[in-house]
Amino acid sequence: MAKKTLDDLGDLKGKKVLVRVDFNVPLDKKTGAVKNDRRIRAALPTIKHLLDAGASVIAMSHLGRPEKATPEERANLTMDKVAAKFSELLGTPVKKAANEVVGAAVTAAVAAMKPGDVILLENLRFDPREQKNDAEFAAAIASLADAYVNDAFGTCHNDKDASMVAVPAALKAAGKPRAVGLLVAKELEIIEGLMSAPKAPVLGIMGGAKVSDKIAFINVLLTKVDQLLIGGKMTYTFLKARGVDVGATRVGDEEVVAAGPLLKHVGTKIVLPVDYVVAKSDDLLQTQVCEGPIPAGFEGVDIGPKTIEAYKAAIKDAATVIWNGPLGWFEQAAFARGTQYIAEAMSASSGVTVVGGGETAEAAEQFGYADKMTHVSTGGGAFLAYVEGKKFQSLAQIDDRA
Ligand code: 3PG
Ligand code: MG
Repeated sequence: MAKKTLDDLGDLKGKKVLVRVDFNVPLDKKTGAVKNDRRIRAALPTIKHLLDAGASVIAMSHLGRPEKATPEERANLTMDKVAAKFSELLGTPVKKAANEVVGAAVTAAVAAMKPGDVILLENLRFDPREQKNDAEFAAAIASLADAYVNDAFGTCHNDKDASMVAVPAALKAAGKPRAVGLLVAKELEIIEGLMSAPKAPVLGIMGGAKVSDKIAFINVLLTKVDQLLIGGKMTYTFLKARGVDVGATRVGDEEVVAAGPLLKHVGTKIVLPVDYVVAKSDDLLQTQVCEGPIPAGFEGVDIGPKTIEAYKAAIKDAATVIWNGPLGWFEQAAFARGTQYIAEAMSASSGVTVVGGGETAEAAEQFGYADKMTHVSTGGGAFLAYVEGKKFQSLAQIDDRA
């Protein structure tokens, strides 16, 4: 059933709207500066829509994993730099409510808000109750607002985050409406369309490191695609599982076990690279292209030139392309060719091109192709989980349309 969206929230003049966004953006490790603001930009249409309707906005997000951070790393996880970036992109002043997520200072700041004002709560995960779906914490947040909007697609698969589940539940208990924002509505529509009626021929491209993390996703994809091209670190998992020597490439035994049941599709639906770039582990400047076993001391770092050409041709022939996971060690310029050429070929396609979030989205953006895709998801884990058909507790909380 269709979910309520912004236009179903009624008259918003003078109302305070709580918007859960996913501003969990990559940060520069040293300075804490926002390295990529794509997730912030993606939430702006919803924020602007609410402000234009006469509401004030209380935005909230988590940032990183403070529970696992050192004190120095944690200092970089306050929302100050995110608030500054958000303000710059929105073109409106954004205040951080306080140095705590909830409490008297936040209540006072919210009470003073006027239509058009925007505040951002402190990093939700600074309060340990956030990840315990704590009802009391949720009630304190919910009491700040007249309505709730979930525009945090990247976090929709987290079933234990209070801001995603217990907070909308508390608003419901208080008789207040809950809707999805424009970003979540768009992500759901595109991914649902992609999975229910993709235009053939459908091509999947899978990269990244771990087969084990993506096995459910790959199995679903295999039921939808005509071909699934493999690249990235998982190439060497498949090679090792087929008994090919992978040299110094590190491939865990559990990965080989995970790839086992997929081997029967190799040569039919699953296409492995025919060549790959390998580099000497103790001197990465020493590289060679290799087609068979990887020599001792060398590790696989990218797909090779013949593979790039074959994959580009497949992309050209496809009506739908779904891509998740980099094809090589793209953070190193010398090993980024596979990822870059695949992104370029997709951007030049006249078919539907969808990029799963996380690292893949960062790569597409880094090479300047993100805006030329049909859709670049803001979800990493959420994209995979939604494609897998998982039911999200966060979305179950959103009111159905009448
Ligand atoms: C993400 O980037 O995956 C989401 O923001 C959720 O963050 P998490 O993986 O730390 O729960
Ligand atoms: Mg995640």
